[in-house]
Amino acid sequence: KNCILVGVPLDCGKARNGCLMGPDAYRTAGLAEALEALGHSTQDIGNVAPDPVRTANAGHLHKLAENIGWTSALQRTALDVAQTGFPIFMGGDHALAAGTVSGMAAHWAKQDRPFFVLWLDAHTDIHTPKSTASGNLHGTPVGYYIGRDGFDGFPDLPDAVDPKNICMIGIRSVDPAENAVLQNLDIDVVDMRRIDETGIATPLAAFLDRVKAANGVLHVSLDVDFIDPLHAPAVGTTVPGGATEREAHLVMEMLSDSGLVQSLDLVELNPFLDDRGKTASLMVDLTASLMGRRVFDRPTRDYS
Ligand code: ARG
Ligand code: MN
Ligand code: MN
Ligand code: MN
Repeated sequence: KNCILVGVPLDCGKARNGCLMGPDAYRTAGLAEALEALGHSTQDIGNVAPDPVRTANAGHLHKLAENIGWTSALQRTALDVAQTGFPIFMGGDHALAAGTVSGMAAHWAKQDRPFFVLWLDAHTDIHTPKSTASGNLHGTPVGYYIGRDGFDGFPDLPDAVDPKNICMIGIRSVDPAENAVLQNLDIDVVDMRRIDETGIATPLAAFLDRVKAANGVLHVSLDVDFIDPLHAPAVGTTVPGGATEREAHLVMEMLSDSGLVQSLDLVELNPFLDDRGKTASLMVDLTASLMGRRVFDRPTRDYS
């Protein structure tokens, strides 16, 4: 594959700062080198900048104008880079997915291919700017790209993602307003209880079968907090009881086997909170698994 690495130093989706260092942490942890070792070509196009936007009256919303500017810039960028390769969006917090997912959806709508999203996260992020209690817009990207009302000032959505085409895995923190809207939508929400009962492979395999049967393409949005904070501490919104390192690798390997994935978000990494780079390194290793690395190909461990 031709991997296009897109730096997205977006830090405006919540109050705690640090995700702006995400792209450079992935570069430091050797994302491009890991992909090249697997035989992929890589092209790091540097960091995207948000469009300038001035918006009065954000109310309790944190950095509304900046979020709008990022959404339009990323929607455009996604449409552009999707034409030449496999985009890997190096975030940046999850607010970036309003732009990346809507842009990828628009790209595949033009090719008449059904578009699916796998949302790997502790959270459902399906608020609107009107329903969010925290005012943190990283809790709203799913609401935007499925076309919920309430995104005043945001760019018009070119092609809404059909909720039936979304699977969320790893869910364990849902706000009441999110729960209410999820009751009326056909999103497959795989919470931690279901993972414990069936294993993580069963619901994922069922979803991948659906994507395949539809001749669809898949975008993966990987939030660091999908993984248990024990393995992945470098994230602002830690929720205990997450996916293990082994479950996360299995998901990535199954995705790789499926051959269905066409684009990837790596989000919410806050290097300021990391422990000697271990979270950044794990995210690189998970990306490598998604792109074809197998257990027997993993690099020899350095125990020094
Ligand atoms: N539901 C909470 C909120 O809206 C948390 C959202 C966390 N989202 C994330 N991308 N980490 O504030
Ligand atoms: Mn901030
Ligand atoms: Mn998220
Ligand atoms: Mn999350």
